[in-house]
Amino acid sequence: MCGIVGYTGRRKAAPILLDALSRLEYRGYDSAGLAVRDGEKLAEVVKATGKLIHLADKTDQGRALEGNCGIGHTRWATHGDPSLINAHPHVSGNCSGSGSGEVESEVVGVHNGIIENFAELKDKLLRHGYTFYSETDTEVLIKLVDYYYRKYKIGPVDAINRMMVRVRGSYALALMFRDYPGEIFAARKDSPMIIGTKDGETYLASDVPAILKYTREVYYIDNLQVARIAPGQVTFYDLNGDEVELPRTEITWDAAAAERGGFEHFMLKEIHEQPAAVRDTLNSLIRDGRIDLSASGLTEEELRAAEQIDIVACGSAWHVGMAAQYVIEGLAGLPVRVELASEFRYRQLPLNERTLVIVISQSGETADSLAALRVAKERGAKTLAIVNVIGSTIAREADHVLYTLAGPEIAVATTKAYSAQLVTADVLAVELASVRGMMDDARRDELLAELMTLPDKINRILEEKERLQWFSSKIANTHDIFFIGRGLDYAISLEGSLKMKEISYIHSEAYAAGELKHGTISLIENNTLVIGVLTQNDLYEKTLSNMMECKSRGAYLMGLTTNGHFSVEDSVNFTVYIPKTDGFFMASLAVIPLQLLAYYTSVNRGLDVDKPRNLAKSVTVE
Ligand code: F6R
Repeated sequence: MCGIVGYTGRRKAAPILLDALSRLEYRGYDSAGLAVRDGEKLAEVVKATGKLIHLADKTDQGRALEGNCGIGHTRWATHGDPSLINAHPHVSGNCSGSGSGEVESEVVGVHNGIIENFAELKDKLLRHGYTFYSETDTEVLIKLVDYYYRKYKIGPVDAINRMMVRVRGSYALALMFRDYPGEIFAARKDSPMIIGTKDGETYLASDVPAILKYTREVYYIDNLQVARIAPGQVTFYDLNGDEVELPRTEITWDAAAAERGGFEHFMLKEIHEQPAAVRDTLNSLIRDGRIDLSASGLTEEELRAAEQIDIVACGSAWHVGMAAQYVIEGLAGLPVRVELASEFRYRQLPLNERTLVIVISQSGETADSLAALRVAKERGAKTLAIVNVIGSTIAREADHVLYTLAGPEIAVATTKAYSAQLVTADVLAVELASVRGMMDDARRDELLAELMTLPDKINRILEEKERLQWFSSKIANTHDIFFIGRGLDYAISLEGSLKMKEISYIHSEAYAAGELKHGTISLIENNTLVIGVLTQNDLYEKTLSNMMECKSRGAYLMGLTTNGHFSVEDSVNFTVYIPKTDGFFMASLAVIPLQLLAYYTSVNRGLDVDKPRNLAKSVTVE
């Protein structure tokens, strides 16, 4: 969603804020703004609609703004359209015109999240004489802080605490108060926020990549805590206003990993990072040829005790769950349900201590996944998170966590985190099968050895990307694409279809191949593209038959299959071959050509691959 940054120190704040925001642009990008303060002088606000570059141009790359303390924001609109007046920062007083200029108000701030009871709070503030210039819930939030600050003549920490008690929803908030030059106050609930210090300077951000270049020593501020930030210093307070100590975490991500490194887009770079992401993740889970999940604290007893597994996630992470379902059921013989987090949280699913709920999330901050995790814990289930971002909320709240080692993922469309999640789930499936006596040691060792071959096989697929680039130019003007498959191939189709539609804006659907005949086949007409995923030995002939049914209604066919199934070529218009691996691990290989196809199709259509319209990387609102 929106990105938040802050800086206070000895250097000019605006260029640092712009640089940090540029690394968060993937979170939201319909407008951006800065508030910067020069010593005791009033803060100055500058806002621009559209991409961050407009704000950078407006401020001469930040050079035009004097001051060593400031906050910045990139917006993904929730309340109010993406106009200049709705762009952040917002102020507690009145605001004319575009909202840019000197801030005479008491409080100025930026916010990420959604305030659910904002209408009720706005009414209260209207009754107390406040007026509103924007349609945002952020303005309500800031005016509420201002109301408590003035009414009770209390300091910023207590005013923010009173606001937090009154507000429902999720937020990460950074505020500057006129009476506190050089300081920033931050608070959060269910929306990420980190604070880092180094050499007398302090940084604040909603996401790690923003400040990785400046510091690796960070604090994860907890829910309903306030941070008071001064140059090189930060103090944390709980809801009572009492000081609390927070542990400092070192971020081990390589700062270069958050740069494009010569690739045209982050997505292409991240597609190419998959062999490393998969290898690093496997190496963290398999040591000396043996599975070692000890870092997660998960015990063999817990794995043995599980009678039911529920996998809960959103989007691509949910697709990992769909693939994992086939693998866990197939190897370990355990019943698995895969639930969308946004549905799971409102269902009355029976859960108990023998249910293992696995929450999969790259960011570890997705609002629905976090809520689902909390529901699972409340109902007594054991919880395991598979998460990429160290220290994220889901990672901290789950009973156990397995980290994927994909490094920072910047492109909105996930690739390397998906692949890292997939192999983590595969290792877990092998371990479940092994400790539950469903698999002998020889089979376990064979599967583990096979998993270790995946990075090289992914590399081999990447070496042949030109064929997909060529094919994507042929399909760039297609209107509809159907991805079909059975079993694990259906799970792969789901991910292939999402990748395609989210970055190419071509309508696409994934269907279980056997289900087409029950309605959807009526959509097939001349030249509709049908992509059949044919990696499962026992199912591929059946899917191929379903493809033929589409072909006889005019469809144009692409088949994705493994080396050896050369007869597929006789039936379809374009075939993509991938190396063989164990059937249970095919998703790790089959997804690569589908990612490349989506990527090149988006490029061919001249679209913004890394920042597709209407999307944000980390969905921290419901
Ligand atoms: C699609 C994509 C999204 C995410 C989903 C969950 O390419 O990236 O569908 O998978 O928003 O996000 P996380 O994994 O951060 O919980």
